[in-house]
Amino acid sequence: MANVAVVGAQWGDEGKGKIVDWLSSRADVVVRFQGGHNAGHTLVINGVEYKLSLLPSGVVRQNKLSVIGNGVVFDPWAFIREVNAIKEKGVSVTPENLIVAENVPLILPVHSALDKAREEAKGAGKIGTTGRGIGPAYEDKVARRAIRLCDLTDDAVLVEKVDALLAHHNALFRALGAPEMTPADILDPLREIAPQVLPYAAVVWKQLDELRRAGKRILFEGAQGTMLDIDHGTYPYVTSSNTVAGNAAAGSGMGPRAVGYVLGICKAYTTRVGSGPFPTELLDDIGELIGQKGKEFGVVTGRKRRCGWFDAVMVRQAVKTGGIDGIALTKLDVLDGFDEIKVCVGYKLDGKEIDYYPSNAGSQARVEPIYETFEGWKDTTRGARSWAELPAQAVKYVRHIEELIQAPVALLSTSPERDDTILMTDPFAD
Ligand code: IMP
Repeated sequence: MANVAVVGAQWGDEGKGKIVDWLSSRADVVVRFQGGHNAGHTLVINGVEYKLSLLPSGVVRQNKLSVIGNGVVFDPWAFIREVNAIKEKGVSVTPENLIVAENVPLILPVHSALDKAREEAKGAGKIGTTGRGIGPAYEDKVARRAIRLCDLTDDAVLVEKVDALLAHHNALFRALGAPEMTPADILDPLREIAPQVLPYAAVVWKQLDELRRAGKRILFEGAQGTMLDIDHGTYPYVTSSNTVAGNAAAGSGMGPRAVGYVLGICKAYTTRVGSGPFPTELLDDIGELIGQKGKEFGVVTGRKRRCGWFDAVMVRQAVKTGGIDGIALTKLDVLDGFDEIKVCVGYKLDGKEIDYYPSNAGSQARVEPIYETFEGWKDTTRGARSWAELPAQAVKYVRHIEELIQAPVALLSTSPERDDTILMTDPFAD
C-alpha cells in the first residue's frame, strides 16, 4: 500500500487543507512531520468549520490516528488550546486518537519573545515570520539545548535545562534590549501544562512501524511549501524546517521508503506572505483582482497575501528537489474570466536566460520572469467535477503547465467544496 506525502510546491497556502482532508478520509493515520503552529488551515466538514494550526487534519475525522512527529516544534499551550477548541465542537480527542512524539522539541515563551524582538530589531529587513517562535525553537534543537516533551517527566532535569537555556537566551535579550526571563517564567507554566500534555506523549516511531507492518495507510501532512524550505527555499526568507517530502521520514521516525507517492500542491497562480523575493508578483490591478477573487488572506496572521502569475520554473524546481510524483492544482476558478493569463517559463538574470531559480539572495531578487501568454476562458471552471466540464482553454492551460513543470496533474480542485475535485491519478493506489 502506497503511503502518501502531501507538500506545498510554492510558498505555502496552496490549498493543502482541502486536499489533505480529501485524502485523510481514505487514510488510517495522518502525520505532521515539520513546522508547528505557524501553519493554518480551515476545514469545513458537514457544515462545521474547524481551524487547525498544529494538529494533523485527521483529528476531526472518526477512527483516524493523528500523529505529531519529532520533526515538529511543539507549543504545549497552543496544543491544548487547539485540542479544547476541537473538543468544544463535539469531536472526541484523546490519547487513543492523537499522539505526540516524546522526543519533540518544545516551543517556549522565550522563543516567541525572541522571534518578535528579532523581527522588530530587523526593521525593514525583517523576514515577516508568524511570530510563533518557530525559528528560535529549531535553533535550540540544532544547538542541542532544546527542552523536549520527554523532559517534562523529570523535574530535576527540567530545572537544569531551563537554567542552561536561559543563560543563552537572556544574553540575546540583553543585546536586543528586550526584558530578560527568570527560570520561574518558564518552569511555572511548564509544570502546570505538563499533566495535560504528557498523556499524549508516545514512542511514535515504534507505533508507526507497527501500523506500517499492519498495512495501514499513512498520510504525511506537510506544512508551508518548498520555497519556504530552509535549504531549497528563498533563504533567508524561509521557515526553519525542511518542508520537502524527504523530511517526512526523518521527521516522523521512519525510513526513506516510508513514502510511496509525493503529491505537491500548487495554485494555478502564485501567492506569498511575508517578505522575500517573488519574481512573478503583480503589483497592479490584476494582482489585486487575483487576491480578491482568491480571498488571499492568511489564516494564522490575517495578513494580505502577495499575488502573481504561475511560476513554472519554481514549481518545476519544487518537483525536482522534493521528488514530487504528481500535482494537485488548486484555485483554477480564480483565473476564470481573464482575457489573458501569463505563465513564467524562464528567467533573465543580468541579461542571460536561466532555467532554474538561483540560490544567491541578490540573484533571486534580480531575476526577471520570461512569460508565455495564454488566451483566457470566459466560461467558469468553478465546481467542475470532470475534464469534460472544463472550458477547452482551461484544459490547454493545465496540460501546458504539466509539460512545463515535468509532472502530471493528479488532482484538480475547482472550488473549496470537498467534492469539487477532479481525480486523474489516485495517490493511494499501489
Ligand atoms: P516562521 O515559520 O514563522 O518562522 O515564518 C517564516 C516565513 O514563513 C514567513 O515568510 C512566513 O510568512 C512564512 N510561513 C510560515 N508558515 C506559513 C504557512 O503556513 N503558510 C505560508 N507562509 C508561512
